[in-house]
Amino acid sequence: MNQEIERRRTFAIISHPDAGKTTLTEKFLLFGGQIQVAGAVKSNKIKKTATSDWMEIEKQRGISVSTSVMEFDYTPDGKNIEYKVNILDTPGHQDFAEDTFRTLTAVDSVIIVVDGAKGVETQTRKLMTVCRMRKTPVIIFVNKMDREGRDPFDLLDELEKELEIKVRPLSWPINQGAKFKGVYNIYEQKLDLFTPDKQRVTEKVEVEIDSEELDKRVGEQDAEKLREDLELVDGVYPEFDVETYRSAEVAPVFFGSALNNFGVQELLNCFVEIAPSPRPTKAEEREVQPEEQKFTGFIFKITANIDPNHRSCIAFCKVCSGKFQRNQPYLHVRQGKTMRFTSPTQFMAQRKSTIDEAWPGDIVGLPDTGGIFKIGDTITEGEQLHFRGLPSFSPELFKYIENDDPMKAKQLQKGIDQLMDEGVAQLFVNQFNNRKIIGTVGQLQFEVIQYRLENEYNAKCRWEPVHLYKACWISSDDEKELENFKKRKYQYMAKDKEGRDVFLADSGYVLQMAQQDFEHIQFHFTSEF
Ligand code: G4P
Repeated sequence: MNQEIERRRTFAIISHPDAGKTTLTEKFLLFGGQIQVAGAVKSNKIKKTATSDWMEIEKQRGISVSTSVMEFDYTPDGKNIEYKVNILDTPGHQDFAEDTFRTLTAVDSVIIVVDGAKGVETQTRKLMTVCRMRKTPVIIFVNKMDREGRDPFDLLDELEKELEIKVRPLSWPINQGAKFKGVYNIYEQKLDLFTPDKQRVTEKVEVEIDSEELDKRVGEQDAEKLREDLELVDGVYPEFDVETYRSAEVAPVFFGSALNNFGVQELLNCFVEIAPSPRPTKAEEREVQPEEQKFTGFIFKITANIDPNHRSCIAFCKVCSGKFQRNQPYLHVRQGKTMRFTSPTQFMAQRKSTIDEAWPGDIVGLPDTGGIFKIGDTITEGEQLHFRGLPSFSPELFKYIENDDPMKAKQLQKGIDQLMDEGVAQLFVNQFNNRKIIGTVGQLQFEVIQYRLENEYNAKCRWEPVHLYKACWISSDDEKELENFKKRKYQYMAKDKEGRDVFLADSGYVLQMAQQDFEHIQFHFTSEF
């Protein structure tokens, strides 16, 4: 078992839209031998949308709505260990950021792609906040070095400041844009010369940094500049130490061009070597070690209608410890029921196949024919264990949801319940007027909800505006003040799906005043505090 755990690398690639996440993922799959030609991932995306109905939305807008898992075995040249790489894909569109947040709870590390010309963008900043909260080790890939970008030192400063993490370059670009010549691989002390080629891997040259060969290869001027830069790098940044990376204190940085397949294999090789294998998982009761003999896992994602012919869902379960086996009796802790899974699946892009066993770090797809699973559910061999809830974040947009077909009230209720269990959006019930408020990260989620309620639950909903700024979970050691607050603000108090108290502030000013007037109350912007 230890060998199986040791060789697993479960991670997500995250970025602001358009930085190159899809392109990088595709190049990784190319190295993993999972696809033969570049472009296959994108064309897969299109095929998927063409065969599944509600994802019509996705097709129309050219975005990827749901998370899928891609896995492959990979042995770096000259090494005799075969790594099992599990990439958890995340939706590219920022309206579905909540989905990405949750996926981050199932990974052991993360690769962040940053556009070299644009630097750190909003979405990257938000995602990094989640990584920091969870102390997830991060590697940064600065992409699009074939374009005119910014000075690498300035970029590194920006990464440090904006992402609030120390950085350590492990490769260094020689020029950029039209004059981009290559990358010096600091980690392996090799020079990779740039031969723009979208389909094939570039050749490496081993060149000593002080050799004349370097001058010959890149020209005297650039060779001199590279030597100066590297000296500065060594002067400014502490030597790379795997432990500081694994404890999420330092983020190694690579430069390259995903589109030109440049710097990608260097990144992948270093990644599999230094990235952590499955880490312990925190449960309410205790910390679970991956090496434990008994199987445990949790649901981090539910996807509807993967197969358009059956209206079933797939619940994605991350194996936290032990060996998962097909057809074994397992305990669904929340429901207190024993279940057997006859057709658990594994994924390869859009293909899936039935599996017999899975190890810590793996993601298993469990068919759910309706309402069996909820995001955050724990499965064990019998132990009463609750893996820590996944945090909800205050939504950005709010709307009242109203029934638009009085004959279908029940269906609507069921639909809303299940969609919220899937984590499509958040539901708050106003305690004053009992109206239901749906909170989302983006406008698109409202459209998805409406579409799915109609197509999957045969229910019609209507949106009505509600003017809200933030939803804050509140807590206090001072029971009296808390009660007093709830009384005073009764029109703005709501319950979330778990029955927790939430204050719905209609403006930043109101929130600020509330914080001032009620000193002993804490206002939280995430549900985990
Ligand atoms: P995303 O998943 O993060 O949203 O980004 P994606 O990989 O789809 O890349 C966004 C755009 O950036 C794509 O162009 C892609 O070809 C381009 N790109 C990715 N890596 C590089 C790179 O290293 N250099 C340059 N110059 N461009 C890069 P597009 O025109 O939007 O799509 P496509 O028609 O090329 O597929």
